[in-house]
Amino acid sequence: MTVDVVNKPNFDVEAVRRDFPILGTMARGKPLIYLDNAATTLKPAAVVEAVTNYYLTSSGNVHRGVHYISEEATRLYEEAREKVRRFLGASAPEEIIFTSGTTGAINLVAHSFGTHLSEGDEIVISEMEHHSNIVPWQLLGERRGVKLKVCPIDDRGALRMEVLAQLIGPRTRLVAVAAISNALGTINPLAQIVELAHAKGVPVLFDAAQAVAHMPLDVTKLGCDFLAFSSHKLFGPTGVGVLYGRRELLEKMPPFMGGGDMIRTVSFEKTTYADLPAKLEAGTPDIAGVIGLGAAIDYVTGIGLTAISAYEQELLAYATEKLETLPGLRLIGTAAHKAAVLSFELAGVHPHDVGSLLDAEGIAVRAGHHCAQPLMRRFGVPATARASLAFYNTAAEIDALARAIPKVQALFA
Ligand SMILES: Cc1ncc(COP(=O)(O)O)c(C=O)c1O
Repeated sequence: MTVDVVNKPNFDVEAVRRDFPILGTMARGKPLIYLDNAATTLKPAAVVEAVTNYYLTSSGNVHRGVHYISEEATRLYEEAREKVRRFLGASAPEEIIFTSGTTGAINLVAHSFGTHLSEGDEIVISEMEHHSNIVPWQLLGERRGVKLKVCPIDDRGALRMEVLAQLIGPRTRLVAVAAISNALGTINPLAQIVELAHAKGVPVLFDAAQAVAHMPLDVTKLGCDFLAFSSHKLFGPTGVGVLYGRRELLEKMPPFMGGGDMIRTVSFEKTTYADLPAKLEAGTPDIAGVIGLGAAIDYVTGIGLTAISAYEQELLAYATEKLETLPGLRLIGTAAHKAAVLSFELAGVHPHDVGSLLDAEGIAVRAGHHCAQPLMRRFGVPATARASLAFYNTAAEIDALARAIPKVQALFA
Protein backbone atom coordinates (compact mmCIF):
# COMPACT_ATOMS: atom_id res chain seq x y z
CA MET A 1 0.00 0.00 0.00
CA THR A 2 1.38 3.42 -0.77
CA VAL A 3 0.51 6.43 1.24
CA ASP A 4 1.16 9.91 -0.09
CA VAL A 5 1.47 11.57 3.30
CA VAL A 6 5.21 12.09 2.77
CA ASN A 7 5.39 13.69 -0.63
CA LYS A 8 1.97 15.10 -1.27
CA PRO A 9 0.54 16.27 2.01
CA ASN A 10 -3.11 17.23 1.63
CA PHE A 11 -3.13 18.91 4.98
CA ASP A 12 -0.91 21.82 5.97
CA VAL A 13 0.78 20.17 8.90
CA GLU A 14 3.60 22.73 9.04
CA ALA A 15 1.10 25.56 9.46
CA VAL A 16 -0.65 23.63 12.23
CA ARG A 17 2.66 22.93 13.98
CA ARG A 18 3.40 26.64 14.22
CA ASP A 19 0.32 26.98 16.43
CA PHE A 20 1.92 24.72 19.06
CA PRO A 21 4.94 26.50 20.58
CA ILE A 22 5.91 23.43 22.62
CA LEU A 23 6.76 21.60 19.39
CA GLY A 24 9.91 23.76 19.29
CA THR A 25 11.18 22.09 22.48
CA MET A 26 14.52 20.29 22.51
CA ALA A 27 14.13 17.06 24.49
CA ARG A 28 17.38 15.37 25.61
CA GLY A 29 19.17 17.58 23.10
CA LYS A 30 16.96 16.46 20.18
CA PRO A 31 13.88 18.09 18.65
CA LEU A 32 10.86 16.82 20.58
CA ILE A 33 8.85 14.17 18.74
CA TYR A 34 5.64 13.93 20.69
CA LEU A 35 3.85 10.63 20.13
CA ASP A 36 1.98 10.41 23.43
CA ASN A 37 -1.25 12.11 22.44
CA ALA A 38 -3.48 9.45 23.96
CA ALA A 39 -2.05 10.38 27.37
CA THR A 40 -2.51 14.08 26.82
CA THR A 41 -2.40 16.43 23.88
CA LEU A 42 -0.28 19.55 23.41
CA LYS A 43 -1.89 22.97 23.61
CA PRO A 44 -2.06 25.55 20.83
CA ALA A 45 -1.09 29.12 21.75
CA ALA A 46 -4.77 30.15 21.40
CA VAL A 47 -5.72 27.93 24.34
CA VAL A 48 -2.87 29.18 26.53
CA GLU A 49 -3.85 32.76 25.66
CA ALA A 50 -7.52 32.19 26.54
CA VAL A 51 -6.53 30.83 29.96
CA THR A 52 -4.03 33.64 30.53
CA ASN A 53 -6.52 36.30 29.44
CA TYR A 54 -9.07 35.06 31.93
CA TYR A 55 -6.54 35.41 34.75
CA LEU A 56 -5.26 38.75 33.46
CA THR A 57 -8.58 40.42 32.68
CA SER A 58 -11.65 38.73 34.13
CA SER A 59 -10.76 36.33 36.93
CA GLY A 60 -13.95 36.71 38.94
CA ASN A 61 -16.04 33.81 40.17
CA VAL A 62 -19.00 32.62 38.11
CA HIS A 63 -22.75 32.83 38.78
CA ARG A 64 -22.20 34.84 41.97
CA GLY A 65 -21.16 38.42 41.53
CA VAL A 66 -23.06 41.45 40.31
CA HIS A 67 -19.79 43.15 39.49
CA TYR A 68 -18.08 43.48 36.13
CA ILE A 69 -15.39 40.80 36.22
CA SER A 70 -17.71 38.22 37.71
CA GLU A 71 -20.20 38.90 34.94
CA GLU A 72 -17.41 38.63 32.39
CA ALA A 73 -16.24 35.32 33.88
CA THR A 74 -19.82 34.01 33.82
CA ARG A 75 -20.29 35.12 30.23
CA LEU A 76 -17.07 33.39 29.10
CA TYR A 77 -17.87 30.26 31.09
CA GLU A 78 -21.40 29.94 29.69
CA GLU A 79 -20.15 30.79 26.21
CA ALA A 80 -17.83 27.80 26.52
CA ARG A 81 -20.78 25.60 27.50
CA GLU A 82 -22.55 26.70 24.33
CA LYS A 83 -19.42 25.86 22.30
CA VAL A 84 -19.38 22.36 23.81
CA ARG A 85 -23.10 21.98 23.10
CA ARG A 86 -22.62 22.86 19.46
CA PHE A 87 -19.47 20.75 19.17
CA LEU A 88 -21.32 17.67 20.42
CA GLY A 89 -24.60 18.43 18.66
CA ALA A 90 -26.50 18.39 21.97
CA SER A 91 -29.91 19.96 21.98
CA ALA A 92 -29.58 22.21 25.04
CA PRO A 93 -26.80 23.73 27.18
CA GLU A 94 -28.45 22.13 30.22
CA GLU A 95 -27.24 18.80 28.86
CA ILE A 96 -23.59 19.86 29.20
CA ILE A 97 -22.15 19.36 32.68
CA PHE A 98 -18.60 20.49 33.40
CA THR A 99 -16.62 17.99 35.42
CA SER A 100 -12.97 17.45 36.30
CA GLY A 101 -12.51 15.12 33.31
CA THR A 102 -13.70 11.85 31.85
CA THR A 103 -13.04 10.16 35.18
CA GLY A 104 -15.08 12.81 36.99
CA ALA A 105 -17.91 12.46 34.47
CA ILE A 106 -18.14 8.67 34.69
CA ASN A 107 -17.98 8.77 38.48
CA LEU A 108 -20.78 11.34 38.44
CA VAL A 109 -22.97 8.96 36.43
CA ALA A 110 -22.02 5.98 38.61
CA HIS A 111 -22.97 7.88 41.76
CA SER A 112 -25.98 9.80 40.60
CA PHE A 113 -27.60 7.59 37.93
CA GLY A 114 -26.37 4.71 40.11
CA THR A 115 -28.81 5.66 42.89
CA HIS A 116 -31.61 4.29 40.66
CA LEU A 117 -29.95 0.86 40.54
CA SER A 118 -30.32 -2.04 42.93
CA GLU A 119 -29.00 -5.50 43.79
CA GLY A 120 -28.76 -7.71 40.71
CA ASP A 121 -28.91 -4.90 38.16
CA GLU A 122 -26.19 -5.06 35.53
CA ILE A 123 -23.83 -2.68 33.76
CA VAL A 124 -22.31 -3.90 30.49
CA ILE A 125 -18.80 -2.71 29.68
CA SER A 126 -16.09 -4.16 27.43
CA GLU A 127 -12.75 -5.84 27.83
CA MET A 128 -10.94 -2.84 26.31
CA GLU A 129 -12.04 -0.27 28.88
CA HIS A 130 -9.78 2.20 30.64
CA HIS A 131 -9.82 1.78 34.43
CA SER A 132 -11.96 4.88 34.71
CA ASN A 133 -14.77 3.02 32.94
CA ILE A 134 -14.32 -0.08 35.10
CA VAL A 135 -13.59 0.96 38.68
CA PRO A 136 -16.49 3.44 39.17
CA TRP A 137 -18.89 0.59 38.27
CA GLN A 138 -17.12 -1.80 40.64
CA LEU A 139 -17.44 0.79 43.42
CA LEU A 140 -21.13 1.10 42.53
CA GLY A 141 -21.30 -2.68 42.74
CA GLU A 142 -19.92 -2.55 46.28
CA ARG A 143 -22.46 0.09 47.27
CA ARG A 144 -25.55 -1.35 45.60
CA GLY A 145 -24.86 -4.94 44.52
CA VAL A 146 -24.76 -4.02 40.83
CA LYS A 147 -22.95 -6.57 38.64
CA LEU A 148 -20.49 -5.95 35.82
CA LYS A 149 -20.86 -7.86 32.56
CA VAL A 150 -17.83 -7.65 30.30
CA CYS A 151 -18.05 -7.94 26.53
CA PRO A 152 -14.98 -9.70 25.09
CA ILE A 153 -12.94 -8.53 22.12
CA ASP A 154 -11.39 -10.56 19.33
CA ASP A 155 -7.68 -11.09 18.70
CA ARG A 156 -7.42 -7.94 16.61
CA GLY A 157 -9.05 -5.88 19.34
CA ALA A 158 -12.54 -5.48 17.89
CA LEU A 159 -15.59 -5.70 20.11
CA ARG A 160 -17.45 -8.99 19.72
CA MET A 161 -20.81 -7.49 18.83
CA GLU A 162 -22.62 -10.83 18.74
CA VAL A 163 -21.66 -11.35 22.41
CA LEU A 164 -22.62 -7.77 23.28
CA ALA A 165 -26.09 -8.45 21.90
CA GLN A 166 -26.43 -11.45 24.22
CA LEU A 167 -25.04 -9.66 27.27
CA ILE A 168 -27.67 -6.92 27.16
CA GLY A 169 -30.45 -8.56 29.10
CA PRO A 170 -33.49 -7.78 31.24
CA ARG A 171 -31.36 -6.61 34.19
CA THR A 172 -29.02 -4.41 32.12
CA ARG A 173 -29.35 -0.80 33.21
CA LEU A 174 -26.51 0.76 31.22
CA VAL A 175 -24.06 -0.08 28.44
CA ALA A 176 -20.84 1.89 29.04
CA VAL A 177 -18.07 1.53 26.46
CA ALA A 178 -15.14 3.44 25.04
CA ALA A 179 -15.75 5.09 21.69
CA ILE A 180 -12.06 4.56 20.91
CA SER A 181 -9.72 2.34 22.93
CA ASN A 182 -6.74 4.23 24.33
CA ALA A 183 -4.50 1.17 24.28
CA LEU A 184 -5.51 -0.41 20.95
CA GLY A 185 -6.95 2.42 18.92
CA THR A 186 -10.05 0.38 18.05
CA ILE A 187 -12.96 2.57 16.98
CA ASN A 188 -16.11 0.91 18.22
CA PRO A 189 -19.28 0.74 16.10
CA LEU A 190 -21.11 3.42 18.05
CA ALA A 191 -24.36 3.55 16.07
CA GLN A 192 -24.69 -0.22 16.23
CA ILE A 193 -24.07 -0.26 19.98
CA VAL A 194 -26.79 2.33 20.54
CA GLU A 195 -29.16 0.38 18.28
CA LEU A 196 -28.59 -2.88 20.17
CA ALA A 197 -28.98 -1.28 23.60
CA HIS A 198 -31.94 0.92 22.75
CA ALA A 199 -33.77 -2.01 21.20
CA LYS A 200 -33.84 -3.39 24.74
CA GLY A 201 -34.57 -0.02 26.36
CA VAL A 202 -31.06 0.32 27.81
CA PRO A 203 -29.23 3.66 27.85
CA VAL A 204 -25.68 3.99 26.51
CA LEU A 205 -22.68 5.88 27.84
CA PHE A 206 -19.71 6.51 25.57
CA ASP A 207 -16.32 7.15 27.08
CA ALA A 208 -15.13 9.58 24.42
CA ALA A 209 -11.83 10.47 26.12
CA GLN A 210 -9.92 9.28 23.06
CA ALA A 211 -12.55 9.85 20.40
CA VAL A 212 -13.19 13.51 21.02
CA ALA A 213 -10.03 14.77 19.30
CA HIS A 214 -9.98 12.30 16.43
CA MET A 215 -13.46 11.96 14.95
CA PRO A 216 -16.61 14.05 14.71
CA LEU A 217 -19.11 13.12 17.42
CA ASP A 218 -22.74 14.15 17.33
CA VAL A 219 -24.70 12.94 20.33
CA THR A 220 -28.04 13.61 18.66
CA LYS A 221 -27.17 11.62 15.54
CA LEU A 222 -25.56 8.88 17.63
CA GLY A 223 -28.52 8.83 19.99
CA CYS A 224 -26.31 8.04 23.00
CA ASP A 225 -27.57 8.92 26.46
CA PHE A 226 -24.31 9.95 28.12
CA LEU A 227 -20.92 10.89 26.71
CA ALA A 228 -17.82 11.79 28.70
CA PHE A 229 -14.60 13.46 27.62
CA SER A 230 -11.57 15.32 28.99
CA SER A 231 -10.46 18.73 27.77
CA HIS A 232 -6.78 17.83 27.96
CA LYS A 233 -7.20 15.14 25.29
CA LEU A 234 -8.73 17.79 23.02
CA PHE A 235 -5.81 20.26 23.09
CA GLY A 236 -7.42 22.05 26.05
CA PRO A 237 -6.34 22.52 29.66
CA THR A 238 -6.10 19.75 32.25
CA GLY A 239 -8.51 19.59 35.17
CA VAL A 240 -11.73 19.95 33.21
CA GLY A 241 -14.02 17.67 31.28
CA VAL A 242 -17.58 17.22 30.15
CA LEU A 243 -20.48 14.95 30.81
CA TYR A 244 -23.15 15.15 28.14
CA GLY A 245 -26.39 13.65 29.38
CA ARG A 246 -29.78 13.38 27.75
CA ARG A 247 -31.99 15.87 29.54
CA GLU A 248 -34.70 13.43 30.70
CA LEU A 249 -32.03 11.31 32.39
CA LEU A 250 -30.16 14.21 33.97
CA GLU A 251 -33.45 15.67 35.28
CA LYS A 252 -34.12 12.46 37.19
CA MET A 253 -30.60 12.18 38.60
CA PRO A 254 -29.98 13.45 42.14
CA PRO A 255 -27.02 15.76 42.82
CA PHE A 256 -23.68 14.01 43.03
CA MET A 257 -21.93 16.57 45.23
CA GLY A 258 -23.46 19.20 47.48
CA GLY A 259 -22.21 22.73 47.94
CA GLY A 260 -22.36 26.17 46.44
CA ASP A 261 -24.04 26.85 43.09
CA MET A 262 -26.09 23.63 43.02
CA ILE A 263 -28.87 24.77 45.38
CA ARG A 264 -32.05 26.79 45.07
CA THR A 265 -32.66 27.27 48.81
CA VAL A 266 -30.87 25.92 51.87
CA SER A 267 -32.16 25.64 55.40
CA PHE A 268 -31.10 23.29 58.13
CA GLU A 269 -34.37 21.44 57.68
CA LYS A 270 -34.48 21.13 53.91
CA THR A 271 -32.48 22.06 50.85
CA THR A 272 -33.86 22.34 47.35
CA TYR A 273 -31.70 22.04 44.29
CA ALA A 274 -30.96 24.26 41.33
CA ASP A 275 -32.03 23.35 37.82
CA LEU A 276 -29.66 21.76 35.33
CA PRO A 277 -26.81 22.16 34.72
CA ALA A 278 -26.04 23.83 38.09
CA LYS A 279 -27.59 20.92 40.02
CA LEU A 280 -24.67 18.74 38.94
CA GLU A 281 -21.90 21.35 39.21
CA ALA A 282 -21.29 21.97 42.91
CA GLY A 283 -18.64 24.47 44.00
CA THR A 284 -16.42 26.86 42.09
CA PRO A 285 -15.58 25.15 38.82
CA ASP A 286 -12.32 25.24 36.88
CA ILE A 287 -13.33 28.49 35.21
CA ALA A 288 -10.05 29.06 33.39
CA GLY A 289 -10.04 25.44 32.26
CA VAL A 290 -13.57 25.67 30.87
CA ILE A 291 -12.70 28.88 29.00
CA GLY A 292 -9.56 27.19 27.67
CA LEU A 293 -11.66 24.22 26.54
CA GLY A 294 -13.89 26.64 24.64
CA ALA A 295 -10.79 28.00 22.89
CA ALA A 296 -9.64 24.46 22.09
CA ILE A 297 -13.00 23.69 20.51
CA ASP A 298 -12.75 26.88 18.43
CA TYR A 299 -9.28 25.80 17.33
CA VAL A 300 -10.23 22.24 16.42
CA THR A 301 -13.43 23.21 14.63
CA GLY A 302 -11.42 25.82 12.70
CA ILE A 303 -9.45 22.95 11.17
CA GLY A 304 -12.36 20.51 11.14
CA LEU A 305 -12.48 17.04 12.65
CA THR A 306 -13.21 15.48 9.29
CA ALA A 307 -9.94 16.88 7.87
CA ILE A 308 -8.10 15.95 11.07
CA SER A 309 -9.40 12.40 10.96
CA ALA A 310 -8.54 11.99 7.26
CA TYR A 311 -4.97 13.20 7.84
CA GLU A 312 -4.52 10.99 10.89
CA GLN A 313 -5.79 7.97 8.97
CA GLU A 314 -3.13 8.56 6.31
CA LEU A 315 -0.50 8.89 9.00
CA LEU A 316 -1.76 5.73 10.70
CA ALA A 317 -1.54 3.77 7.44
CA TYR A 318 1.99 5.09 6.89
CA ALA A 319 3.09 4.29 10.45
CA THR A 320 1.49 0.83 10.41
CA GLU A 321 3.30 -0.05 7.19
CA LYS A 322 6.62 1.17 8.64
CA LEU A 323 6.32 -0.52 12.02
CA GLU A 324 4.87 -3.86 11.02
CA THR A 325 7.85 -4.59 8.79
CA LEU A 326 10.31 -4.15 11.68
CA PRO A 327 11.60 -7.56 12.80
CA GLY A 328 10.54 -8.53 16.31
CA LEU A 329 7.81 -5.91 16.54
CA ARG A 330 4.25 -7.06 17.19
CA LEU A 331 1.43 -4.56 16.90
CA ILE A 332 -1.26 -5.07 19.51
CA GLY A 333 -4.58 -3.77 18.26
CA THR A 334 -5.11 -4.28 14.55
CA ALA A 335 -8.87 -3.84 14.25
CA ALA A 336 -10.13 -2.90 10.80
CA HIS A 337 -11.56 0.35 12.11
CA LYS A 338 -8.80 2.07 14.07
CA ALA A 339 -7.60 5.46 15.24
CA ALA A 340 -3.93 6.47 15.08
CA VAL A 341 -2.69 4.49 18.07
CA LEU A 342 0.17 2.01 17.62
CA SER A 343 0.65 -0.21 20.65
CA PHE A 344 3.46 -2.69 20.27
CA GLU A 345 5.77 -5.10 21.96
CA LEU A 346 9.35 -5.58 20.89
CA ALA A 347 10.82 -9.06 21.26
CA GLY A 348 13.35 -9.20 24.06
CA VAL A 349 12.92 -5.62 25.22
CA HIS A 350 10.71 -4.55 28.12
CA PRO A 351 8.27 -1.80 27.08
CA HIS A 352 9.64 0.48 29.80
CA ASP A 353 13.11 0.16 28.27
CA VAL A 354 11.61 0.92 24.86
CA GLY A 355 10.06 4.07 26.34
CA SER A 356 13.25 5.21 28.09
CA LEU A 357 15.52 4.55 25.13
CA LEU A 358 13.19 6.31 22.69
CA ASP A 359 13.10 9.21 25.12
CA ALA A 360 16.87 9.46 24.81
CA GLU A 361 16.21 10.14 21.10
CA GLY A 362 13.73 12.89 21.97
CA ILE A 363 10.78 10.63 21.11
CA ALA A 364 7.95 10.63 23.65
CA VAL A 365 5.87 7.44 23.70
CA ARG A 366 3.97 5.85 26.54
CA ALA A 367 5.14 2.58 28.07
CA GLY A 368 2.95 0.77 30.54
CA HIS A 369 -0.44 -0.83 30.98
CA HIS A 370 -2.25 2.30 29.80
CA CYS A 371 -4.71 2.09 32.73
CA ALA A 372 -6.14 -0.98 31.00
CA GLN A 373 -4.76 -3.92 32.96
CA PRO A 374 -7.55 -6.36 32.02
CA LEU A 375 -6.87 -5.59 28.37
CA MET A 376 -3.13 -6.24 28.80
CA ARG A 377 -4.04 -9.59 30.37
CA ARG A 378 -6.28 -10.34 27.37
CA PHE A 379 -3.25 -9.99 25.09
CA GLY A 380 -0.91 -11.79 27.50
CA VAL A 381 1.44 -8.84 28.00
CA PRO A 382 2.24 -6.86 31.15
CA ALA A 383 2.53 -3.64 29.20
CA THR A 384 3.11 -2.24 25.74
CA ALA A 385 4.92 0.69 24.21
CA ARG A 386 2.44 3.01 22.54
CA ALA A 387 2.83 5.70 19.93
CA SER A 388 -0.35 7.73 19.64
CA LEU A 389 -0.62 10.37 16.97
CA ALA A 390 -2.29 13.72 16.54
CA PHE A 391 -2.75 16.01 13.56
CA TYR A 392 0.51 17.87 14.26
CA ASN A 393 2.57 14.71 13.82
CA THR A 394 4.38 14.12 10.56
CA ALA A 395 5.59 11.29 8.38
CA ALA A 396 9.17 12.43 9.18
CA GLU A 397 8.47 11.83 12.86
CA ILE A 398 7.21 8.33 12.06
CA ASP A 399 10.42 7.75 10.09
CA ALA A 400 12.45 8.83 13.13
CA LEU A 401 10.51 6.35 15.29
CA ALA A 402 11.03 3.56 12.78
CA ARG A 403 14.78 4.30 12.70
CA ALA A 404 15.07 4.46 16.50
CA ILE A 405 13.32 1.14 17.25
CA PRO A 406 16.00 -1.11 15.65
CA LYS A 407 18.65 0.88 17.56
CA VAL A 408 16.81 0.07 20.80
CA GLN A 409 16.65 -3.58 19.79
CA ALA A 410 20.35 -3.68 18.94
CA LEU A 411 21.19 -2.72 22.55
CA PHE A 412 19.48 -5.93 23.74
CA ALA A 413 20.74 -8.26 21.03
C1 LIG B 1 -10.42 5.76 27.03
C2 LIG B 1 -10.12 6.61 28.24
N1 LIG B 1 -11.05 6.76 29.18
C3 LIG B 1 -10.85 7.52 30.26
C4 LIG B 1 -9.65 8.17 30.47
C5 LIG B 1 -9.48 9.00 31.69
O1 LIG B 1 -9.33 10.35 31.37
P1 LIG B 1 -8.97 11.41 32.49
O2 LIG B 1 -7.78 10.86 33.22
O3 LIG B 1 -8.66 12.64 31.72
O4 LIG B 1 -10.16 11.54 33.36
C6 LIG B 1 -8.64 8.03 29.53
C7 LIG B 1 -7.33 8.65 29.73
O5 LIG B 1 -6.33 8.18 29.24
C8 LIG B 1 -8.88 7.23 28.38
O6 LIG B 1 -7.95 7.08 27.44
